[in-house]
Amino acid sequence: MRFILLNPGPVSLSEGVRRAATRVDLCHREPEYFELQDRVISGLLDIYSCAPGHWASVLIGGSGTSAMEAMMASLLPQETRLLVLENGVYGERLSRIADIYDIPNQSLKLAWGEAVDLDALGDMLASGEFSHLAAVHHETTTGRLNPVDEIAALCTRHGVQLLLDAVSSFGAESIPFEEPSLLAIAATANKCLHGIPGLAMVLCRREALEQGIKPRSLSLHLPAWAEQQARQSTPFTPSVNAVLGLAQALKELGKQGGWRARRSRYRELAARVADTLKDLRVREWLAAEESSCVLRSYHLPERLSYNELHDGLKQHGFIIYAGQGDLATKLFRISTMGEISNYDMARLEQALRIVIGA
Ligand SMILES: Cc1ncc(COP(=O)(O)O)c(C=O)c1O
Repeated sequence: MRFILLNPGPVSLSEGVRRAATRVDLCHREPEYFELQDRVISGLLDIYSCAPGHWASVLIGGSGTSAMEAMMASLLPQETRLLVLENGVYGERLSRIADIYDIPNQSLKLAWGEAVDLDALGDMLASGEFSHLAAVHHETTTGRLNPVDEIAALCTRHGVQLLLDAVSSFGAESIPFEEPSLLAIAATANKCLHGIPGLAMVLCRREALEQGIKPRSLSLHLPAWAEQQARQSTPFTPSVNAVLGLAQALKELGKQGGWRARRSRYRELAARVADTLKDLRVREWLAAEESSCVLRSYHLPERLSYNELHDGLKQHGFIIYAGQGDLATKLFRISTMGEISNYDMARLEQALRIVIGA
């Protein structure tokens, strides 16, 4: 059975990406691979028009968490005084990574899904206690889109450098690359970029790679990856098939109109799902204005457990996603990333009516 994935990555692939990923067998030490690697590295910078003189894009093997970890472990100097903004699972994960790498950190802890209190954040940043802020752009836990423009502007005002987990927003939401405080973002191939899993990336200012930071990890040290990628090499075996898939996915993103067009498409699909659910008296967890274009969360319908809802929709070919932790019994999440046609949407609306309306 063909499933349409409405979980927040991996996503349903286009035929083009699926084919490209297995089109040829490539040795990662041959010029054909390095030409491909160069193309993907510059394609990633092009999405947000990041000038290659100022920004580097570094490809690594692994999942989104590898990108978060590589960013934190490679770019934060020993004397860092880190503040972490937490309002969901992934903010908490940033703190956990900092703890594991013995990076001194404090957090501004909010409830999962709670809006960022910009005054409180501004006061903390103004205290002079912090050199860096780590934050999540789209907190996939609940779908909340954190106000990254305001956060980055506060960081710039207070001379704090910002590390952003953009794993579930890169390629479809606005990211303030022009803001001087933004030092790096972590992302992955298999969410808004519509590539296949196994490949992650960090985009960072070039000077971030030149801080002389002692490696805290062998396989996640970004300056080593970047240095070798710059001279058409690679330190370890890359996920060649994921790179092939991503090259095609980037081509398709460009043809479809880039990240802005993708955001419009996601918004349109999310609104269609929200309208159908509203009709079925399913309440939204967060309002549309507070949610990303990527994913929205909803209260579980009164008469259905998550498993009943999930299994019912799966029978119609749709995979939705549960809430995490304590939210598992309260909400469900629907992401509209990936290759989803208008026909798929019409079928989804019908399936929702059958399963929830029954
Ligand atoms: C915002 C965010 N950060 C990090 C991750 C972790 O990515 P992965 O599961 O690929 O390691 C996710 C996964 O959904 C995410 O949504």
